[in-house]
Amino acid sequence: MVKKLIEFSGVSKQFRERTGEIVNALQPSDLSIFEGEFFTLLGPSGCGKTTALRLMAGFVQPTDGEIKIEGIKMNNVPPYRRPVNMVFQDYALFPHLNVFENVAFGLRIKHIQKDEIRQRVFQSLDIVQLSGFETRRPSQLSGGQKQRVALARALINQPTVLLLDEPLGALDLKLRRAMQLELKSLQQQVGITFVYVTHDQEEALTMSDRIAVMSAGRILQVDTPMNIYERPTTRFVADFVGETNFLNGKIEKIIPGELVKVMIGSNPVDVRHRTNGIRPGDLVTIAIRPEKLTLMPPTSRSEKLLATVAEVTYLGTDTRYIVQIPGGEKAAVRVQNTGIKRTPSFLVGDQVTVSYDLDDAQILTS
Ligand SMILES: Nc1ncnc2c1ncn2[C@@H]1O[C@H](COP(=O)(O)OP(=O)(O)OP(=O)(O)O)[C@@H](O)[C@H]1O
Ligand SMILES: [Mg+2]
Repeated sequence: MVKKLIEFSGVSKQFRERTGEIVNALQPSDLSIFEGEFFTLLGPSGCGKTTALRLMAGFVQPTDGEIKIEGIKMNNVPPYRRPVNMVFQDYALFPHLNVFENVAFGLRIKHIQKDEIRQRVFQSLDIVQLSGFETRRPSQLSGGQKQRVALARALINQPTVLLLDEPLGALDLKLRRAMQLELKSLQQQVGITFVYVTHDQEEALTMSDRIAVMSAGRILQVDTPMNIYERPTTRFVADFVGETNFLNGKIEKIIPGELVKVMIGSNPVDVRHRTNGIRPGDLVTIAIRPEKLTLMPPTSRSEKLLATVAEVTYLGTDTRYIVQIPGGEKAAVRVQNTGIKRTPSFLVGDQVTVSYDLDDAQILTS
């Protein structure tokens, strides 16, 4: 049985601005993070990610609700008494101290013996692959190296949970990608639970065991990267993570547990029945990823979606088509440019049939 490490029950946070205005940084939320997980809070700027992390760390107190860590109620427990450590976006290293002293700092203030400090600093620097950098100052390090010092400094306290607030935000794309993989393998190596904050959906998908997608102070969906991508439950999640086509339609018929027939303009299409609480006549949105659509020459089979090619863009690894569906909807289609072309190429103005696997389309009601 996996152990719950962090639990939010109805946790909310309101801030009062100087003008007296109330900001709902976090709406009442329930959340469970399990031991050993790489858990990511993903969402756009201002959605409440840092607030959620600061609530876990104890830098702010919830307006309402209960926070538990390892089963113990944490409301009013100060940050230094919690089994967590936070790594900040700007690293917050002491510029006048060298790498060794930066990492040792937390142990020095706890009055731990010199020999043990030495041993633990070397061990932490070894984990982040910075052995030999002990005497450098932060100003003599690259962005990625500073980031690793910040990590070593957090790891040396042997926290149960490491909270990381956009730790790679300051790095260029290439270094960022390299550090993503390093961080992930480091997490697996040390076995500490990571709660990671990012607004970068690709980063979240690459690194996480589970992702919580947030918007405007709400946690909209908590799931594995694959389910967040393949089975978004809301339009926001489908739109924020990757590219999605949204086709507006009306439900015509439901065969429970099997199929839903939806009219998109004058085209009837089928979607696997997975969504509860829908009825014939309901207006719904069908979400489908561009790479899940395929184009074929027109057929007379009525269950297919007929369209006209409106745009063709060659993108190297694949070709992106925009197709116009009668009735006004447009959809993007991505076709991989494989060596052996299984699909014929189409030109602007061509008539095509758009098809997809039943399971790849998702009905959204919100
Ligand atoms: N101390 C504060 N006083 C007033 N409002 C605050 C305070 N801290 C955060 N907020 C507001 O709460 C909301 C959530 O802020 P938060 O910092 O959690 O967002 P975020 O998701 O981390 O955003 P970003 O990606 O930009 O870092 C924002 O509207 C922010 O302005
Ligand atoms: Mg933030």
